[in-house]
Amino acid sequence: MLNAVEKVLHKSSRVKKSKLKPLTQNFGIVGESDPMLQVFRVISKARATNATVLITGESGTGKELVARALHYGGKTSAAPFVPVNCGGIPDSLLESELFGYMKGAFTGATETRAGFFQTADGGTIFLDEISNTSLAMQAKLLRVLQEKEFFMIGSKKSLKVNVRIVAATNVDLMQLIKKGLFREDLFYRLHIITINLPPLRERGNDILRLTDFFLDKYVRELDKPLMKFTPKALKAIKEYAWPGNVRELQNLIHRLVIMADESTIDVPDLPESFRYSASRTKGLDRKLVEVEREYIREALAANQNNISVTAQILGIDRKTLREKIKHVK
Ligand SMILES: Nc1ncnc2c1ncn2[C@@H]1O[C@H](COP(=O)(O)OP(=O)(O)OP(=O)(O)O)[C@@H](O)[C@H]1O
Ligand SMILES: [Mg+2]
Repeated sequence: MLNAVEKVLHKSSRVKKSKLKPLTQNFGIVGESDPMLQVFRVISKARATNATVLITGESGTGKELVARALHYGGKTSAAPFVPVNCGGIPDSLLESELFGYMKGAFTGATETRAGFFQTADGGTIFLDEISNTSLAMQAKLLRVLQEKEFFMIGSKKSLKVNVRIVAATNVDLMQLIKKGLFREDLFYRLHIITINLPPLRERGNDILRLTDFFLDKYVRELDKPLMKFTPKALKAIKEYAWPGNVRELQNLIHRLVIMADESTIDVPDLPESFRYSASRTKGLDRKLVEVEREYIREALAANQNNISVTAQILGIDRKTLREKIKHVK
């Protein structure tokens, strides 16, 4: 009798638990692995403050998602969140975007325009790919960080703003500092709270949790019948190296849901590089060079054989990657 009661109690608590999903979706960020729980702890503390936050992590690890969680989970969530991609924009353009300009400040400035810092007043500015800024721009950013004031282009009057700064980088700023490409003083200004997002391959079962999450999302969005992966396909997904991290996983599942003719997704439905990882033995008897070859092959496949992107993700230069590829094939 007691046993039956216990069973019922156990069952009902289980139902409640799965309904609430308290841990799986912190700020919309899926993860329960130890390194992600650590990330959530830091987000919880940081979001209550106005302190500058630096988010580091490989491409596709969720840096922008964390920046949004800091803002929308914080005290100033009603104010704007303004993301700025600092990469690949010429200095002059970035400067006018960030700081705004006065009418007549330069040819083409036909009217006075507010910059992102002004737009973000009271809220958060997200400086994405901060490592890609020039040293001259870094000096200007340092000034804003220190003084919380700046000049619009063509104006002699400084403007004060109350903006929370969140910056992100997918390269190691310390390495750039050593090469003289990043200002050390700016780094220390940014480095007050740092959130390091682990690569997906270091998140254990989060890979499967995210697989579930994206499968559910795309099945709903695309109005498809319920789908599932075979255990072998899940094993291949779990063992894959994910050089493109969560973004790569998300894109793969999106594609699979679109393409699927049947409700079960199996290993042959996965890209070639997964089939390889599904069949390999996981023993510790492999030579390092073999592991490297396999990793390079997977990274290339995940990035449509794009040498520049793959080299960046692997943290080596293109020439080195080309050399290594000669031995991969
Ligand atoms: N833990 C997570 N849970 C749910 N979705 C995630 C998670 N991490 C990342 N994503 C999703 O993956 C995609 C990539 O994330 P995001 O753009 O934040 O990465 P990033 O680190 O900024 O990448 P990049 O360096 O390429 O700009 C987004 O669509 C994001 O919503
Ligand atoms: Mg990003």
